[in-house]
Amino acid sequence: YIMTSTNNTVDYNNGLTHGRVLNFGAGPGCLPEEVLLEAQQELLNFQGSGKSIMELSHRGKEYSKVHEDAKSNLRLLLNIPENYDILFLQGGATSLFAGIPINLCNGNNDTIDYLVTGAWSKSAYNEAKMYTKVNAVADMESTKFRTVAEPSDWKRSDNASYFYYCDNETVHGVEMPSQQVYDNVPASIPILCDMSSNFLSRPVDVSKFGLIYAGAQKNAGIAGITIVIIRKDLLQKSKPDTPNVFNFLKKSQQNSLDNTPPTFNIYIMGLVLKWLLKNGGLDEMSRLSQTKSHMLYDFVDNSNGFYTCYIDKKYRSRMNACIRIKDGDEAMEEKFFKAAEKHGITDVKGHRSVGGVRVSLYNAITVRGVEVLLAFMKEFMAQNQ
Ligand SMILES: Cc1ncc(COP(=O)(O)O)c(C=O)c1O
Repeated sequence: YIMTSTNNTVDYNNGLTHGRVLNFGAGPGCLPEEVLLEAQQELLNFQGSGKSIMELSHRGKEYSKVHEDAKSNLRLLLNIPENYDILFLQGGATSLFAGIPINLCNGNNDTIDYLVTGAWSKSAYNEAKMYTKVNAVADMESTKFRTVAEPSDWKRSDNASYFYYCDNETVHGVEMPSQQVYDNVPASIPILCDMSSNFLSRPVDVSKFGLIYAGAQKNAGIAGITIVIIRKDLLQKSKPDTPNVFNFLKKSQQNSLDNTPPTFNIYIMGLVLKWLLKNGGLDEMSRLSQTKSHMLYDFVDNSNGFYTCYIDKKYRSRMNACIRIKDGDEAMEEKFFKAAEKHGITDVKGHRSVGGVRVSLYNAITVRGVEVLLAFMKEFMAQNQ
C-alpha cells in the first residue's frame, strides 16, 4: 500500500512540501504544516495591525484576544471544569520540578509521593528533595524502566500531601493508563501530573487531578511555554515567598500577564489548539494515536526479533516508541539512522541514556507518515537480516 503502482518504489516524499522531512523527534517535535504556513502568512502583518505578533504589546487588544482564545480553546478541548485555572509559565516543564514543591509544600511538613516510572519523574523526585519530604511509592529504575509496579505494590506514605507521576515518560517510552493512577490514590490526595509528552493526545478527566502541567514543544506548540492546569483551591497553598514568576496564585490573579508572557509561543499554541479543534479534537487524536502506535508496535512484534520493544505491553507509550535493532546492535542501529536520513526520515535516534531507536508519534505525525516509516523499516530489515 506504500508502493506506487507504476514503478514499485516507495513514495518517501509522503506529500510533504517545501523540502520537509518526516520528523519523528521527541521534542521539540514536528508541528502541523498548516500551522506553520498560517504563522508564515501573517508573520509580517498580524491581522491588519501592521506589526508581527512578536511586535505587539502583550497588553494590546490583538494579543489579548490571542491569549484569551488560547485559554478558552484549551478549556474546550480538555473540558476543563470551572474550578480549575490555566496558567502560562516560562522556564520549561523542568521549572515545575521545583515549582511544585516550592509553591505547594510547607517546608518539611509535607510529603509528596512519587511514582517513578522513567527519567522525567526521577528528575522531578530528585529535585523536590531539596524543598520537601519525598517518598518513592515505586522506583522502576531497577527494571530499566521497562514496566510499572502494580498499584497493590505501591508503598504510599501514610500522610502524603500529594501524589506525583508522569503520564508519559518521553525518554523510556512508558505511558501510564491515567485511570490506574487515580483509581488507586485516595481522592483526598491531589494528584500532580507531568503530561508534557502526551498532552492533548487523548481526553483527560481533569477533575481527577490537582495539577496537570506540560511543556508545549511536543503536542501543543513550541518550546518556551509551559501550561499549568490547577484546581483553584490549591492556588491558596502557594507560599508567599515563592518567586513571583513561579507563584501559582500570583500568576492566576494576574491572568499570567504579571510580566511579559512569551507571546509568540502562546500564539503558536493557539494555532495548534485551533488545528486540533478543526481536526476532531482529542477523541480523534486518541483514535489516531492508537492506530499509529499499534501499527508500529505490531510491526515490531512481528519482525522475528529483528526489531524489539522491551517495554511491558501494558505501558507502551503511544507517543514515544523505544525500539532496539538486533537486540541492541549499535553498529546496525547507526546504519539504520543513516539509511533513514537518506529517505527523509529523521530524529529517530533514542535518548543518549537509553540508546536504540525512538520514534515519536505526536499529533502532527500522520498515519501516512507511519506507513512510510514502516515501509522503510521493512526494507531495512530485508537488507540486513
Ligand atoms: C515528560 C517530560 N517532562 C519534562 C520535560 C522537560 O521539559 P523542558 O525541557 O521544557 O524543561 C520533558 C522534556 O522533554 C519531558 O518530556
